[in-house]
Amino acid sequence: MSDGNLTLCVPRASSGQDPHQPILASSQKPTHLPPNHVLIQVDRFGFSANNITYQALGEHPHFRYFDFNYAPEAGEVSSKSHGLFPVWGFGTVEKSTHPKINEGERVYGYFAPTRYLLLPVSPADVNKHAFYVPRPHLPADRRPYNQILRCAADPQYSSDPAVEDLTMLYRPLFWTSYWCEDWLFSSNYRGGASTILISSASSKTAFCLAYLIKKRIARGELNSDTKIVGLTSKGNLEFTRGLGHYDEILEYSSFTSGSAFSHSGKDERWIYVDVASNASLNERILAHFASPYSATLAACTILGLTNLSPASDGVDSIDWGTNTFDASANSDAHPTSQFWPTFENFFMPEWLNVRKHQLSVNEIFERQNTAWKELLVDCVGWVKIDRVYGGAAVKKAYEEVAKRGLGPERGLIWNLWDAPVKKGWLRSLL
Ligand SMILES: NC(=O)c1ccc[n+]([C@@H]2O[C@H](COP(=O)([O-])OP(=O)(O)OC[C@H]3O[C@@H](n4cnc5c(N)ncnc54)[C@H](OP(=O)(O)O)[C@@H]3O)[C@@H](O)[C@H]2O)c1
Repeated sequence: MSDGNLTLCVPRASSGQDPHQPILASSQKPTHLPPNHVLIQVDRFGFSANNITYQALGEHPHFRYFDFNYAPEAGEVSSKSHGLFPVWGFGTVEKSTHPKINEGERVYGYFAPTRYLLLPVSPADVNKHAFYVPRPHLPADRRPYNQILRCAADPQYSSDPAVEDLTMLYRPLFWTSYWCEDWLFSSNYRGGASTILISSASSKTAFCLAYLIKKRIARGELNSDTKIVGLTSKGNLEFTRGLGHYDEILEYSSFTSGSAFSHSGKDERWIYVDVASNASLNERILAHFASPYSATLAACTILGLTNLSPASDGVDSIDWGTNTFDASANSDAHPTSQFWPTFENFFMPEWLNVRKHQLSVNEIFERQNTAWKELLVDCVGWVKIDRVYGGAAVKKAYEEVAKRGLGPERGLIWNLWDAPVKKGWLRSLL
């Protein structure tokens, strides 16, 4: 099918099929658009552990990542048996039946691994900066995912393809790290912390958090003695150390003998930000802090789930419990007299919802613009951009990632077209 649609679909866990085995579904390119719809040509998108988490939690009753966009009905693929993991990417509006959205517009949003995406638009929810996809079946706090940014009016946009790549890789993760740091800072790091311990330290979400804490310290807003300690796998030690965002990087198998752990004093207060969500690692961490001679573990925050794979068991029973997203309550919620802090979940859209009541929209925009500009300067060289073009090649790349996991040093940019779509893109890469 030369001008047809191509979509990378993954089996739903509930279908009983192997979730590591994606299918490339060929379907008709949508030609008829009902009123207030856009047909987006998805040029390319970023892929990281974040997308694997989306897939693993596709049918989870809280997250419902498969309910953003549905698999096509095509041959052996159907929306009942298959899901589409969301991807952050750039595209172009090829057709529009909304009077205020122009054909040819460059857009950025929460798309799907497909060539063409037909989306409804909330008729009254279109402004200069963005328009929104109505998804009334999902909780209202998912609004950031329903937003499609119009690049022409986006102060963070640059048409430079290299910047577009960095945007797809970092934007979804960086804002999680950014608002998580803001959340910690809002409670004065739970009343003061000497050390921030971060697992899956090689992941972009983790190392961006470390980077942001370092910047907070450099601005004099956090005690200059605060230490940032990362935990990672043996194979990722060198990469993570090379980033320079952590004061100490320790390996999962031997972290307690590292100097941060072995020299920590009883009167120190630590915060643990868990990006790995590895139960046995967490048991070992808690066991260390159970010693009467160890520092106090003042708070534990779950930020990521890199240890999830598309085939992880028991995903539906992951408890997303309650969040203490009341900044004023944070420090009281976990008094140090309590023996163990509970593991709290940090879910960026929920905290941002709180901040929207505390800060003006302009202040949020300004803060984000400043942080983004700084990131774009600082992040060059952190990871090597690795582009894959074409349906078959992307499917193969996905299968490799599902089988072998993701290395941190590569920033994956995928594209279901056989060659870069945007005019001039290839030329500017050469
Ligand atoms: N809470 C939120 O609102 C929110 C928002 C965005 C992202 N996140 C989460 O943050 C996490 C990190 O995402 P990312 O995109 O930043 O990751 P990434 O950069 O792709 O991270 C790759 C790292 O993940 C770990 N990893 C990868 N595959 C693994 C596997 N099969 N088993 C165990 N560990 C594996 C490894 O780190 P180590 O060797 O260092 O462990 C690897 O270096 C994801 O779980 C994502 O969903 C959460």
